[in-house]
Amino acid sequence: MTKERNNHLFFGGVDAVELAEKYGTPLYITDENNLRNNFKNYKNAFETTNIDTDIYYAVKANGNLALLKILASEGAGADVFSAGELELTKLAGIPAEKILFNGNSKSDDDLKEAVESGVRVSVDSVDELQALSAVANELGREVEIAIRVNPDVSPEVHPKIATGLKESKFGIPFHDVIPVCEEAEKLPNVLLAGLHCHIGSQILDITVFGEATEKMMALVERVYERDMQLKFVDLGGGLGIGYRQEEKATAPTPKDLAEMILPVFENKIRELGISLKLVLEPGRSIVGTSTILLSRVNAVKRANKNFVAIDAGFNLLIRPVMYGAYHEVVVANKVNERASELYTVVGNVCEAGDIMAKDRMLPKVERGDLVAILDTGAYGFSMSSQYNGRPRCAEVLVCDGKADLIRSRETIEDLIRNQEIPARLIF
Ligand code: LLP
Repeated sequence: MTKERNNHLFFGGVDAVELAEKYGTPLYITDENNLRNNFKNYKNAFETTNIDTDIYYAVKANGNLALLKILASEGAGADVFSAGELELTKLAGIPAEKILFNGNSKSDDDLKEAVESGVRVSVDSVDELQALSAVANELGREVEIAIRVNPDVSPEVHPKIATGLKESKFGIPFHDVIPVCEEAEKLPNVLLAGLHCHIGSQILDITVFGEATEKMMALVERVYERDMQLKFVDLGGGLGIGYRQEEKATAPTPKDLAEMILPVFENKIRELGISLKLVLEPGRSIVGTSTILLSRVNAVKRANKNFVAIDAGFNLLIRPVMYGAYHEVVVANKVNERASELYTVVGNVCEAGDIMAKDRMLPKVERGDLVAILDTGAYGFSMSSQYNGRPRCAEVLVCDGKADLIRSRETIEDLIRNQEIPARLIF
């Protein structure tokens, strides 16, 4: 994916050093071909059987409009978690019938927006079910729904990103799902169309997907036993990627995922003599590897450790701090130099925990060098903030040696834009 020339990192056929000079740092850089290939891999992996599969890209992973347009052109649907994400998918041209509005805490305005947009809603509680029915009724519209199931399966991932545990806030407890489906059937203006789950993120041991599919298909059987019908089952996202160099070759692929899910899915629908669409909601495995975060070294300090202080902190990439996540780092202007010293790469945020990469062997680093943090396409920019009074950085799309700006750098003005000073404080 990343190539090197003249001791410089090349990404999408473009010299990272030139990108830093032209657009400044910090800078998120996305490789269009990598993104397209990741999506195509998914599509191809699930096109091996007669099961009609739709891939609803999880917009929360990266909501940049250019990326969404690219994915829309490849045929992606979308998992959206807010009215804002819904608007982005509309702007990207993703059709309403391929959008699922998710979330465990939707306001009446969210529900109204979903119904008016003609998208399906994944219902997370009985409260929401009743509210949605009332909202749709008021608008004189019908809305197709999925029931978000809490399947009680336990992937081996960071506890903050395991979403299908019994104690998790998401979904309707497994044993309550059938009564909730029955309640949905009785309520006006809501049409039961699917069952939905999402068990967690960055899952590398994919046997849990098999377990979740078994559980979901058992529920499908019970739905049909009660004379109810479905159009789709959505098994969520969660496929992990290899963040560490040594994980890259062994990390599960969409093909591995398809081989885990499809036989279980197919057997059950054949046994029941029904037809059902399969929906998946990958985020990370579509965008994760497509992007790097390029930063400039502001200082090298030899102290208790050798610190490399870069111009990107956890306001731009929170994953290392929030989940102890590992991202490879390379010195983008010294890619052919021997890794000779141990460094800890830290950000520019005023918190001791602002550590981007701990104890890494790198070539000798100096002020002014460029550090690229790899595989930052998922939950990178989308989780960024302006903490410490730092405007968010720019984003660039690279493709076959060309670069385009896809988000301009925020300015100090953007920090002030929505702030109001009460009249009594103006002097
Ligand atoms: N569907 C639902 C309902 C989800 O909640 C999520 C992610 C996805 C799909 C996409 O999952 P993926 O394929 O990307 O694993 N910020 C964390 C990850 C949070 C995931 C939240 N839900 C991180 O940086 O690791």
